[in-house]
Amino acid sequence: MKILVTGGTGYIGSHTVVELQNKGFEVVIVDNLSNSSADIVDNIEKITGVRPLLEVFDLTDFDKTMDFFTRHNDIKGVIHFAAYKAVGESVEKPLMYYRNNLVSLMNILESMIANKVENLVFSSSCTVYGQPDELPVSEKAPIKKAESPYGNTKQISEEIIQDSVKAYDVKGIALRYFNPIGAHESALIGELPLGVPNNLVPFITQTAIGIRDQLKVFGDDYPTPDGTPIRDYIHVVDLAKAHVIAVNRMIEGKMKKDFEVFNLGTGKGYSVLEVINAFEKTTGQKLNYKIVERRPGDVIEVWADPTFSNQELGWKAEKGIDEMVLSAWNWEKALRSKNKD
Ligand code: UFG
Repeated sequence: MKILVTGGTGYIGSHTVVELQNKGFEVVIVDNLSNSSADIVDNIEKITGVRPLLEVFDLTDFDKTMDFFTRHNDIKGVIHFAAYKAVGESVEKPLMYYRNNLVSLMNILESMIANKVENLVFSSSCTVYGQPDELPVSEKAPIKKAESPYGNTKQISEEIIQDSVKAYDVKGIALRYFNPIGAHESALIGELPLGVPNNLVPFITQTAIGIRDQLKVFGDDYPTPDGTPIRDYIHVVDLAKAHVIAVNRMIEGKMKKDFEVFNLGTGKGYSVLEVINAFEKTTGQKLNYKIVERRPGDVIEVWADPTFSNQELGWKAEKGIDEMVLSAWNWEKALRSKNKD
């Protein structure tokens, strides 16, 4: 059973390729390598014993995308990760974000429809909820106006899929991720931020290993128990497994509606200081950090109600915060020792 994974050499994509292969799926990756490296395929092969096919091209190229689907006319499902994802950059370069994230999605959908590929799993985000009025946040919570062009591309993408599902022979599942962190236990794949990381955990591990001097904690005057913002961190391997279940649900015809949405989170929130404490405790590393002013655009607190995903998908996040931060640290160490060779 052949599955296309776009962005399959990226962070969440590569972990999903591994879990798909573990379940016996044949995987074809399409990636333009704009934020990842072709070597990842070697490491996926080391983990699973199977080398996924990688085709390098840009999904914003309509002709290449259509040609790909015509050649691979036995694809049973598409898991679409390939997108730009930096919130701050999207504010600076909105048109680059709209073009890349939306044009690629439309090209994929048109090519799927022309080639009778019905099943699309889409990589969405809890950013569509903004600061929710009620916590934990369920899939029924209202969509808030996007805080950034990046967030807006996720909202618009969900709408494009929803409209396409109504009009054509295509079905969609949008998976709304909370905060994915951590790495595969082999330490062969993980997050590879380009330049200075925006996200908390890569910044923590890079500081601990000595690449960054100091972690800045963006504000401790929020209305939360310790004053720092709260997020629902989820291990990337748990997240990857949900994609396998979602694509299987589609292929096996188990969807209840032609467009479904699921939250992927643990249901438990941790503050920034709690993540730092978990890191220090599990790794034995003392972290150099200081409290600075708030980062504009940060929500105060958000965590998932994963009940619907747990019940409908039969999926549950299994790994706790200690395992998440420890795996991120093991990945960071493996990465740096490899770079020294
Ligand atoms: N933080 C710091 N210092 C840092 C980096 C982050 O204190 O150097 C804090 C942030 O202020 C926030 C928490 O750590 O309170 C988590 O920040 P991340 O940047 O790791 O994650 P966000 O929740 O801000 O961002 C995530 C995804 C985005 C998505 C967004 C929606 O990475 O793709 O959720 O809210 F758009």
